[in-house]
Amino acid sequence: GGPRALRYGSTRDYVLGMDVVLPNGTPLSVGKKTVKGVTGYDLTSLLVGSEGTLAITTEITLKLLPKPQAVATMLVPLPSLESAAQAVTSLLSHGILPRCLELLDEATLTIVRPLSQMPIPEAARALLLVELDGEEAALEVLMARHGTEREKLWGARRELSRALRGKAKFKLAEDVVVPRSKIPALIDQCQRLSEQYQVFMPCYGHAGDGNIHVNFLWTDPSDEPRVHKAIEALFKHVIALGGTLSGEHGIGVLKAPYLPLEHSPQLIRLQEQLKAVFDPKQLLNPGKIFPGHLQRFHSAC
Ligand code: LAC
Ligand code: ZN
Repeated sequence: GGPRALRYGSTRDYVLGMDVVLPNGTPLSVGKKTVKGVTGYDLTSLLVGSEGTLAITTEITLKLLPKPQAVATMLVPLPSLESAAQAVTSLLSHGILPRCLELLDEATLTIVRPLSQMPIPEAARALLLVELDGEEAALEVLMARHGTEREKLWGARRELSRALRGKAKFKLAEDVVVPRSKIPALIDQCQRLSEQYQVFMPCYGHAGDGNIHVNFLWTDPSDEPRVHKAIEALFKHVIALGGTLSGEHGIGVLKAPYLPLEHSPQLIRLQEQLKAVFDPKQLLNPGKIFPGHLQRFHSAC
């Protein structure tokens, strides 16, 4: 994923084909080396989205794009989170597709301010980082055109995940996605949950994609049950808004118990059957994705 997925899609969209080895030692080439091709099932997508649970990848064929001629970056401080969320939807509904459209909430700004090489006004309650690319002539009106300035704008954003990690003993970073028009509703709900469950929840992320990293920070281990209640409430709200539990980080182990909030029992069963075809002995990445697999793995050990 990452910030540029807004315009260019995720890395998965560039994977044309793969060489893999099944757990029983069978080598396979899936996909193609051409830009187009539709023979057989789309196993490339299946394998890309499998979080390493189906096969071991030994080679990937990727589609490449030419670099854009020019890039322009803007830092836009806003007086409220609501105005920032509205700016995101209104920008996109005007037919402008930046390559990045990142949102930082107030809690995140307090952490970013001391790290930022660009001044962020004290009055700002939210920040948008907007980046466009394309042809030189089309980007004349925009600021931060030079590489070094752009680096300054992005520096603190890049450090965010690590910086938040340093603010408390424990951190869980979710990456929920909602339809873009529902970003204000999602952000509202995060503020409510933060108050209700008394958890520090800085939010930032790829607002243009509707993909927000909702972070949960706490230091006292006895707070953990409360954090999990807040996470479950967040996930239920995201599904009710028509969203999905993970935009880029995947399900892994931590989100496996929540998969049934999004996928029906039939859908989970079908995926488990696919897993059994590729990996009948459950050797690859045990415990990932499916609820219940981790317990089964631990009891088998
Ligand atoms: C980010 C990582 C956490 O966007 O996905 O900072
Ligand atoms: Zn991200």
